[in-house]
Amino acid sequence: MTRDLMFKDEIQQLVADAYEAVEDPDGPGARNYAPEQLELLPASARRWILGVGNPVPAAHLQPGDRVLDLGCGAGIDAQLAAVEVGPTGHVTGVDMLPSMVERCRAFAQEAGRDNLTFVNAEMEALPLADGHVDVVVSNGSINLSARKSRVLAEALRAMRPGGRLAVADLTIDEDDLPSEILTHPSAWAG
Ligand SMILES: C[S@@+](CC[C@H](N)C(=O)[O-])C[C@H]1O[C@@H](n2cnc3c(N)ncnc32)[C@H](O)[C@@H]1O
Repeated sequence: MTRDLMFKDEIQQLVADAYEAVEDPDGPGARNYAPEQLELLPASARRWILGVGNPVPAAHLQPGDRVLDLGCGAGIDAQLAAVEVGPTGHVTGVDMLPSMVERCRAFAQEAGRDNLTFVNAEMEALPLADGHVDVVVSNGSINLSARKSRVLAEALRAMRPGGRLAVADLTIDEDDLPSEILTHPSAWAG
């Protein structure tokens, strides 16, 4: 139904505009994390917790795992994953906004972690080889995509056979939301 009401580029642009406009979010998603997780983040990064849950513990990461974080925002879950996979593992965060990617790099540098890479790309077209990662995590991002099936297909392509997916996100129970909601900017980006 959504496809008929708005174009993918239109939705993506309003999501991009909404996240570009965020200046000082003051960590709205911090309540989802345990104090000992928050302590692993630089204080400046804690203001940029924008997710809706806490997916990394559900991923049961092991030292050496290669992890992909879809729509990584300021790199909060990527940093927590980087601690768990250790120096033999690696985390790649993907976000469509250059400003978010720069923020991720700055926070990773501030934390002194070098087993993280941040890439400016769309979740719908991941610049990763087939089977490149062991685990995919995501927090509050897949709901923002106009092509959610495509995101999941890309996640499965980038994951090795037998890999794991841990997602915290928003879902709806019904497909028949009114068109006023399906086309409202804050319903997509809020
Ligand atoms: C709710 S925030 C992510 C929060 C982050 N995971 C955290 O836990 O703090 C959503 C992020 O998804 C990114 N995003 C939205 N649509 C995207 C897309 N199609 N491809 C890549 N990134 C996207 C936005 O730029 C934004 O940084």
